Amino acid sequence: MKVFIAGGRGRVGSLLADNLEAKGIEVVSGGLEDGIDVISGKGLTEALAGVDTIVNVLNTPRFDAEGAISFFEGAINNLTAEGERAGVRHHIVLSIVGVGQGDASEVGYYLGKVAQEKAVRSASIPATIIRATQFQSYIPVLIDQHTVDGKVIAPRSFVQPVELDEVIELLAEAATTLEPGSEVEIAGPDRFYHDDLFRATLADRGDDREVVTVDAEGAPDVMVPRGAYRTGTVRYPITGIPTV
Ligand SMILES: NC(=O)c1ccc[n+]([C@@H]2O[C@H](COP(=O)([O-])OP(=O)(O)OC[C@H]3O[C@@H](n4cnc5c(N)ncnc54)[C@H](OP(=O)(O)O)[C@@H]3O)[C@@H](O)[C@H]2O)c1
Repeated sequence: MKVFIAGGRGRVGSLLADNLEAKGIEVVSGGLEDGIDVISGKGLTEALAGVDTIVNVLNTPRFDAEGAISFFEGAINNLTAEGERAGVRHHIVLSIVGVGQGDASEVGYYLGKVAQEKAVRSASIPATIIRATQFQSYIPVLIDQHTVDGKVIAPRSFVQPVELDEVIELLAEAATTLEPGSEVEIAGPDRFYHDDLFRATLADRGDDREVVTVDAEGAPDVMVPRGAYRTGTVRYPITGIPTV
């Protein structure tokens, strides 16, 4: 079996490559550093030769709707066109729990993820969509993204962070054993409010930024699974945060 990881040298991609290689699976890394550009198509034909499965863990720094949509959708279209020619049988995409719902429907980057899901669902290569909640290790980055003029603006809405290794294992499982066509969500074992999680994380890091709680606009459960999901077993590394 040969797996092409689109974004194979990124945070998720490099861990997934290690995981699959440890299972004896041949991996081709598809990133800019590998000389492959999924947007211009450079290097794709050669890289996809003999590939059975694409795992798409690409990312873009573009957070505006136009940039994110054109990146995520364009990548699916190019991977589908070249993948079909190469006889690829399964295209797995990593998305985010809650994109396209409630408040999250207004966020430019999330609109890119919605476009990505839609494009792969309607593409000719059978697809699987894995949706993860925020990675636990990503919470400090999320706090920075919520910081305005030195204060952290935190909604009183739910967050259920998951350990990245457990997402990697699910992606590996999808690549090796899952039949195409499913949509699977994964979240961590505990659900918190954003503001509580942010305060505890900052305190643990000795960061004295003030956290300002703001009401959740709409339903508080937008960014956590609302239906069946796989529950990670690894708890958030800080104890004592109230759970919901
Ligand atoms: N952060 C979270 O909590 C979270 C939760 C759920 C889902 N996700 C999803 O996880 C996915 C992966 O995130 P990540 O943090 O691993 O991203 P990352 O570290 O930024 O890696 C992104 C990869 O995409 C590659 N790439 C970018 N533009 C490319 C192009 N034109 N052609 C080929 N490769 C290109 C980069 O290649 P180079 O390194 O060579 O530039 C890099 O390997 C994202 O889609 C994100 O939405 C994240």
